[in-house]
Amino acid sequence: MSYEIRCHRHRGAGGCQERGGMISLNIVGGGRLGKSVARLAHDSGRYRIGALLCRSRASALAARDFVGAGMALTDLAALPAVDITLLAVPDGEIAAVAAALAEAEVIAAGSVVCHASGVGEAALLAPLAARGVYCASLHPAFSFADPARAVAGFAGTRCALEGDVAALPLLQSLAADIGGVPFVLAPGGKAAYHAALSIASNYLVTLHDLAARVAAQAGMTDEVAAAVLGGLMRQTLDNTLVLGPQAALTGPIARGDAGTVAKHRAVLSAQDDALYCALGQATASLAATRLTAAQQRALAEVLGMLAV
Ligand SMILES: NC(=O)c1ccc[n+]([C@@H]2O[C@H](COP(=O)([O-])OP(=O)(O)OC[C@H]3O[C@@H](n4cnc5c(N)ncnc54)[C@H](OP(=O)(O)O)[C@@H]3O)[C@@H](O)[C@H]2O)c1
Repeated sequence: MSYEIRCHRHRGAGGCQERGGMISLNIVGGGRLGKSVARLAHDSGRYRIGALLCRSRASALAARDFVGAGMALTDLAALPAVDITLLAVPDGEIAAVAAALAEAEVIAAGSVVCHASGVGEAALLAPLAARGVYCASLHPAFSFADPARAVAGFAGTRCALEGDVAALPLLQSLAADIGGVPFVLAPGGKAAYHAALSIASNYLVTLHDLAARVAAQAGMTDEVAAAVLGGLMRQTLDNTLVLGPQAALTGPIARGDAGTVAKHRAVLSAQDDALYCALGQATASLAATRLTAAQQRALAEVLGMLAV
């Protein structure tokens, strides 16, 4: 991504000549995400890492060693002036750190501050915005469980941006320079964005667990169940991503087969049956356009629905 670099200290000059066009970046919170992003930015050759700040000196030193650049700090007031400050602290700490940074008067007006929460809005940084700082959030849809693996596998990761439009060009460049693919969310869209990710990722795991538990009731070994369910889940995921949910749907509900649904329900535990019915009702709604009115009524009855 090309972006004319405009350092906040040299606005209007068309670039930060003092640093040879490098963008300066501080990381507050040198944990899993913070040190991964800092390392990717440093390795891109386009960023000068100013400081890596943690609560503990040991964490700050470990982050600096991992990144291979930057000052290891524990004091917010010691942060150098930079173009971008990334707050990579836990979600619950973002607002307090933003308030402390505003109080310490270390972030220059016209520079960019972003946090990395998936669900929090740029508004978490309000005390800084009130001081003329361009505030935003940058959320990579990626798991940074292990920084070394994260750095190796980050390329192509989608990065959601939200916040002050004046912050977005610089953050789009940062996301692209570290190998990501940036996109901008609608204002107020963070909660829905994060809910969608949680459903797609976490609930897929919950579905696998439910299916494996029911497979065990049939006497299938873990090995056989993993092969059968894994193959089917992968094939179905491919189908729904390529064809869309309506066209990808197969099985008894899509065929209007209430008798088979009743047989399923009869062998499920109360807990699994509750999940089966909740998902079955949503599946019946998805299949409704292919079903006759009589099939819809039969499914509604067997799934305990008031109306389809
Ligand atoms: N991990 C992921 O996969 C992932 C993915 C997408 C987005 N995110 C987001 O990235 C952010 C960071 O998550 P993470 O998983 O990287 O966290 P983490 O590994 O727990 O690291 C948090 C870092 O913040 C520092 N810290 C905590 N409180 C602080 C404070 N008050 N002042 C200064 N530094 C402080 C910690 O320092 P000490 O070590 O000294 O305590 C640590 O270096 C969160 O907003 C999270 O939602 C994470």
